[in-house]
Amino acid sequence: MGYKEIKPDIYWVGAIDWDRRIFDELVSTPHGTSYNAYLIKDEKTVLIDTVEPYLKDILLTNIKDAGVEKLDYIISNHAEQDHSGTIPTLLQMFPDAKVITNPKCKELLIEHLEIPEDKIITVEDKETISIGKRTLQFFYTPWVHWPETMSTYIPEDDIIFTCDLFGAHLATSEIFSSDNWAEVEIEVKRYYAEIMMPFRMHIRRYIKLMKDLKVDMIAPSHGPVHNTVEQVLKTYEVWVSDTVKDMVIIAYVSMHGSTYEAVRVLERELLRRNVDVKVFNLTKTDPGEFAMALVDAATIVFATPTVLASAHPSIIYFAHLVRALRPKAKNLAIINSYGWGGMTIKQIEDILGILKLNKLSYVSFKGKIKEKVINEIVNLADEIEEATQQTVKTCPETGC
Ligand code: FEO
Repeated sequence: MGYKEIKPDIYWVGAIDWDRRIFDELVSTPHGTSYNAYLIKDEKTVLIDTVEPYLKDILLTNIKDAGVEKLDYIISNHAEQDHSGTIPTLLQMFPDAKVITNPKCKELLIEHLEIPEDKIITVEDKETISIGKRTLQFFYTPWVHWPETMSTYIPEDDIIFTCDLFGAHLATSEIFSSDNWAEVEIEVKRYYAEIMMPFRMHIRRYIKLMKDLKVDMIAPSHGPVHNTVEQVLKTYEVWVSDTVKDMVIIAYVSMHGSTYEAVRVLERELLRRNVDVKVFNLTKTDPGEFAMALVDAATIVFATPTVLASAHPSIIYFAHLVRALRPKAKNLAIINSYGWGGMTIKQIEDILGILKLNKLSYVSFKGKIKEKVINEIVNLADEIEEATQQTVKTCPETGC
C-alpha cells in the first residue's frame, strides 16, 4: 500500500510489515503488523511518528509520492524505536525539520537515538501549535506503553493520533477498521492483551479523554485506522472495566500423563457445573492466545509436574507472563504431580504473590492419579465454581 489519504490533506504514509512474527522478542504477531506514520499538508508540513528503521525506504517513498519536498515538524508521540527509529534519517534528509515531543520523550530520543537537543521542541500537556488552517494539540497520555507516550489531536479534523494506544498488530492493506471489523477486533484484543492490559487503569482516563474531545477517527501507529470510534471505545471499556467472565483458565504441562489426567477431571467437573473453561497446554500455546483469555477470566489454575525440583519451565514462563500482564482474574488454584518432592507450589505462589490472588485449594499428588486425588479435584471444582461466580458478581461493584 502506498500513501493513502484518510482525511483531506492527511495521509497514511507508513509501512506494512507482513513478515514480523514477534515483537520486543516477547509479543507474538501472527498476522504481522504495520508502523503507521501520518503526513499533514498545511502551511506547515507535519509528519506524525515514523517507522522501524529497516522499513525506512517505504516511508521515504510514500512521503515523496505524496508530493512532499520539505518537512517542518516531526511529531514523536512515543520514543520506542518502531515509531522513532527513522527520525535520525529524516533529520538528515530534511535538515530544517524540528522534532516536537514532550520533555520525557525528548530525554529518551536523545538517549536512544542520539538526536541533537537543538532539533527538539518540547510541548506541555494540552499545548497547541498552529500549522496553518489546523491546530495540533498535544495530550500527555503516559503509560500506553512507556512513561512518555502522548497523543496528538487535530480539532479541525476530529482526528486523534494515539500511537500504541488502540493499535493492533495486523498487516493489512485495508486502511480502515470498518473495512473488516471482525478481523480487526480480534487483533485489537490481542494487542490490548499483550501490551496494554497492565495499564488498564490509565486507559480508563484516556477513554474519557477520547469521549470528551470531538473525535470521529482514531489513528493509532499499528494496524488499521479506526473510523469506528464508538465501537472501539465500547469494546475497550469492557476490557478495562472490573467486569470478568464466568470463565476459568487451566494452564498445564504434563510429562507422563498424570497432570493431564488431573486436568481432564477438573475440566469435566467444571463443565458439569456450567463453568466456562479454556485449557492451554503451555508447551504448545501461543502466549498471545493465552493473554487474550486473561482479559476475561475470573480464575486461573496452573497444573504442573515437578521437574528437577521445580515447576516445569513453561509453567514458570507463563506464570511470569501473568504477573507482568496483571489481569483481572482474582482466584488461583494449583495442581502438582510429583515423583519424589520439590518446591513447585511455592515457586508459582512466589511469582504470582504480587497479584494478591485469592488462593483456592491446591491439589498435590505423587505418581499416578488415584481415587483420593480425583475426590480432591471434584472438591476443588466446587470451590472454583463458587469463587468464580462470586468474582463475577462482586468485581464490578467492589473493583478487582
Ligand atoms: Fe509500537 Fe511501544 O511501540
